[in-house]
Amino acid sequence: MTQDEAPARPGAQEWLPSDGGLEALRAAAPACRGCELWEPATQVVFSAGNPTAAIAMVGEQPGDVEDTRGIPFVGPAGQLLQRAMVDAGVAREDVYVTNAVKHFRFTPRGKRRIHATPEAAHVAACKPWLRAELAAVAPRVVVCLGATAAKALLGSQVRVMRDRGRPMPRETSAGTCVFMVTAHPSSVLRVPDVDGARDEAYAALVADLTMLPGLVAA
Ligand code: URA
Ligand code: SF4
Repeated sequence: MTQDEAPARPGAQEWLPSDGGLEALRAAAPACRGCELWEPATQVVFSAGNPTAAIAMVGEQPGDVEDTRGIPFVGPAGQLLQRAMVDAGVAREDVYVTNAVKHFRFTPRGKRRIHATPEAAHVAACKPWLRAELAAVAPRVVVCLGATAAKALLGSQVRVMRDRGRPMPRETSAGTCVFMVTAHPSSVLRVPDVDGARDEAYAALVADLTMLPGLVAA
């Protein structure tokens, strides 16, 4: 794509309400035109879970099922995450779940819609929502599920496989918050199910999540 064809991406800021907390953010998000991803998507997928949770989990973007239902992490990756949370002793009621990008980016292929990774420019355009919701929820721990969320929140230097499972305290507007990077549940589903490789990837995700109750209590 040449410069001339690049879509306008003013970013989400001008669609953000100036006050009213999380519910005002949720109510305003459907009108966002901060980047072009709203147009082919079915609807915005804002967040789910406990708005006063101690733990926030941040994914990449809604998938096909999430786009249709308007709820994050209800498709195959969400089901795997749910199972991993149970196995790690993390109660869903203690967690707020959201995504770095709030509209589903995909490539149409026949009747199917194939997931397309959001570009850094989409993540940047959508960042005001993420920043504002995390400020409203003020979790003690933020889990970045995969590289898109990790880069959105911790910068482009982060490497999931190198940095995963390591608590990274950071000062935020809501005080000290511990960030932790782990694998995206979709990446576990993509590991070929041979020689126990997928089970190993799943166990590594569970091992990372097992640290969460201790980080919350610390
Ligand atoms: N993958 C994500 O990153 N987020 C969702 O909501 C679903 C799948
Ligand atoms: Fe707005 Fe984010 Fe949707 Fe782009 S992806 S239109 S910035 S909510």
